[in-house]
Amino acid sequence: MDTIIILDFGSQYTQLIARKIREQHVYCEIHPFNKIPALNSDVKGVVFSGSPFSCNAPDAPVPDMTNIKGKLPLLAVCYGAQYLAKWGGGRVQQSKIREYGRANLNYIDNGNPLMKGVPMGSQVWMSHGDTIEVLPDNYRVICSTENVKYAGYQIEGEETYAIQFHPEVHHSVDGNTLLRNFVVDICGCQQSWTPESFIETTVKELREKVGGDKVVLGLSGGVDSTVAAVLLNRAIGHQLHCIFVDNGLLRKNEFENVLESYKDMGLNVKGVDAKSRFYEVLAGVKDPEKKRKAIGKTFIDVFDAEAKLITDAKWLGQGTIYPDVIESSSVKGPSQTIKSHHNVGGLPDYMKLKLVEPLRSLFKDEVRGVGRQLGIKDELIGRHPFPGPGLAIRILSDVTPEKVHILQEVDHIFIQGLRDAGLYDKVWQAGAMLLPVQSVGVMGDERTYESVVALRAVESVDGMTADWSHLPYDFMAKISNEIINRVKGVNRVCYDISSKPPATIEWE
Ligand code: XMP
Repeated sequence: MDTIIILDFGSQYTQLIARKIREQHVYCEIHPFNKIPALNSDVKGVVFSGSPFSCNAPDAPVPDMTNIKGKLPLLAVCYGAQYLAKWGGGRVQQSKIREYGRANLNYIDNGNPLMKGVPMGSQVWMSHGDTIEVLPDNYRVICSTENVKYAGYQIEGEETYAIQFHPEVHHSVDGNTLLRNFVVDICGCQQSWTPESFIETTVKELREKVGGDKVVLGLSGGVDSTVAAVLLNRAIGHQLHCIFVDNGLLRKNEFENVLESYKDMGLNVKGVDAKSRFYEVLAGVKDPEKKRKAIGKTFIDVFDAEAKLITDAKWLGQGTIYPDVIESSSVKGPSQTIKSHHNVGGLPDYMKLKLVEPLRSLFKDEVRGVGRQLGIKDELIGRHPFPGPGLAIRILSDVTPEKVHILQEVDHIFIQGLRDAGLYDKVWQAGAMLLPVQSVGVMGDERTYESVVALRAVESVDGMTADWSHLPYDFMAKISNEIINRVKGVNRVCYDISSKPPATIEWE
């Protein structure tokens, strides 16, 4: 597979560069600038990302370009462009005028292959504190804006290109054209990275890797584990043994419904009712992190006991996806974990199973594409994210089966309401929280003293940042009415209007 290597200098946009290149159906990988992989014949070009550093800083990241510059096509973005300018004898210094936000190209060398098809006036997105003041002699300007003369350049006699703006962000209107020019025309990559080709190669690889062995996989009802299972099932059929645990913290009827659809998909899956074990370990536990730990540990115990029943299992299948992989080897080190996330499958070493992770190279939107191509229903593919610890982290304070029941009913009315109103797919994630607060109300002639629930719906791209969804008032009025009328034990409904940051999506 033709491959582009993106060297990460720590920019917040590095993953976006990769996603944009993948959208051109070209495979690419992100590697830290100081851990350059072997550049074999599949590698057709290299991209340098931006960076929060100034290239003049004493601790600025310095890549080893021995096998790159002048040998492979290179596109250096932002920091990368400044670094190369300085490296070649130019001058980079703090810019006197603000170079942040939208700008328009007022000079374009249309004869240059990188700029082909980019129209005069094209809007680009700048985001840098430094700027290139002096360009080395053999560097040729290929585009400029009013404030940034050296917005882009090529080094003469080499396929080395650089731009100070960010082609990967949405506001650079012709950014996709520019990236396509680089990866397709300049690097000569085949645009063969598609869900179909991914499935074909992965199925072949999985068969070779696993051979006749048995694989155990924990299903969670989420997109990643489902797609991983269907892919493995296509490769090795009933050598795959799936386990789906009911932890008693799922949505209303979720366990039965999802189990049914798994069976429809032909998966070899065992449903395990472990509700009471989870309720037992959660009894009286109020601290959110303690709840997560208790749930994580119980999950492992239950899964481990079930996996042992599958004699001679050699592999553990997991739905790990590319952002998790990048995160764990990032330039900045693993990002600070604000909450400990126990995802399905995080199992201890003593299980002695080898790992098989068929989705390791995919971004979330690619996982969905592969899932659709595998024939998984849109209903499953388009599901909102749902946390591993489930409703336990939406029931503030201690968890009891009664509280779970109340919250399941509330959540069901909200989610079904979103579906009925055609709003479900417009919202990134939605759910309800049961608060440890009682409030006074009146129902008929009676005074009530019952629970308060908070509804939360957010817009987001990846869950890292989020804004609250501006749901229509009429819709909220209807849902609130339905909840109060139908769910015994709830007499007040609030809507969470906090964005992330500072608030997180889950309340615990
Ligand atoms: P927060 O609350 O951190 O959530 O803004 C971001 C995304 O992560 C999900 N989330 C979890 N997922 N285990 C999971 O598998 C967890 O412990 C966990 N906590 C939060 C959350 O639902 C949202 O999609």
